[in-house]
Amino acid sequence: MKFFIDTANLDEIKSAAAMGVLDGVTTNPSLAAKETMPYRELLAEICKIVSGPVSAEVLATEHDGMLKEAEELAAIADNIVVKIPTILEGLKAIKSLTERGINTNATLVFSPSQALLVAKAGAMFVSPFIGRLDDISSDGMELISRILTIYRNYDFETEVLVASSRHPMHVVESALMGADIVTMPYDVIAKLIKHPLTDIGLAKFLADYKKAAKG
Ligand code: E4P
Repeated sequence: MKFFIDTANLDEIKSAAAMGVLDGVTTNPSLAAKETMPYRELLAEICKIVSGPVSAEVLATEHDGMLKEAEELAAIADNIVVKIPTILEGLKAIKSLTERGINTNATLVFSPSQALLVAKAGAMFVSPFIGRLDDISSDGMELISRILTIYRNYDFETEVLVASSRHPMHVVESALMGADIVTMPYDVIAKLIKHPLTDIGLAKFLADYKKAAKG
């Protein structure tokens, strides 16, 4: 399973890349708004750090505007994948961009029917937002399971990119289900390595060695 980081913060991206687990980056307008550098400059910097897919989101909401913006974003670097909102105009944009050889990530997906349509239109990634479903007492992981079943039934090439992950168990459950990718905030990556018994064990090894060395 591939690991993407869900941030536009350069320090977080550099740190995750140094861990050797980073396969790509997802950004969105809300994440970009937290940074001081203009969005497109930021994307260019991110693409210098990460060679895998870097998702960059359009702000336009109709087909022609999405296409224009997507072409500008795709020109920033070869590894840019353009995030398109999963609405009717977005579906048309995914089809047009796929025909032009521009890779797309269908974002804000909350149902199996949306996932089915974006796969048929040719999206490279589908991004179901599981945390936002959990937030409204729905089951985010159930959506992932249903999308994986549909895609496997018909051998769709679109990769399932689990988005809006909030904690390590979202990542573990995604791996057990065989999702292609999870994008996660930096703190979730950091939490994945933590185990209290590792910390206790390490402290004891060091203390024991120190005691013995004194004696
Ligand atoms: C994914 O591409 C989105 O940027 C992201 O995962 C949204 O997460 P949130 O629901 O925590 O904002």
